[in-house]
Amino acid sequence: MTQQTLLHDLKAQIITDGICQDLASQATQLVMGDGKPDADIVFIGEAPGKNEDQQGLPFVGAAGKFLNEMLAAAEMERADVYITNIVKYRPPNNRDPLPEEKKAFWPYLLRQIEIINPKVVITLGRHSGAYFIPDLQISKDHGHARKVKYHDKEFLVIPLYHPAAALYNGGMRQTLIDDFLKAAAYARSV
Ligand code: URA
Repeated sequence: MTQQTLLHDLKAQIITDGICQDLASQATQLVMGDGKPDADIVFIGEAPGKNEDQQGLPFVGAAGKFLNEMLAAAEMERADVYITNIVKYRPPNNRDPLPEEKKAFWPYLLRQIEIINPKVVITLGRHSGAYFIPDLQISKDHGHARKVKYHDKEFLVIPLYHPAAALYNGGMRQTLIDDFLKAAAYARSV
């Protein structure tokens, strides 16, 4: 089976398993991910927002535009990487995902990463970052690669600030761009 088929089956599984019914009933659709099913780099954000919910694709709003700009600066395109979120339904009114929602989606996210088998996982924001790096201090740890073990799985994780948080904050924006270029160079070197 191809990785694309496995990802498609995983999406169907999330629906048949009835994950986060409450979120699902308020969302337009499940936003699984976008990009290359065998990408070397997987980006993991928090949860879909309004635009993502409507289009069925992650990071297509303002934060997505900024992400696309950083990809272009790193001479990459969305089609070269894979982009997803820890929580795959839009939380109502764009509230933060709840701990139980992240927990419910976590095994599916792990399976998704296992299927893609990337060299590097880049987390965007503390919601996904803290799931891979439980003692994450984003202000200290941003941009630094860490080997993380989860049961029998090992990941190379680089936690970054969330593009939406950095978008309108000049200092954080430049830090994210610098981290992003460093992370892309690192991913190319491993
Ligand atoms: N923010 C996220 O974390 N994910 C998206 O898909 C869009 C905005």
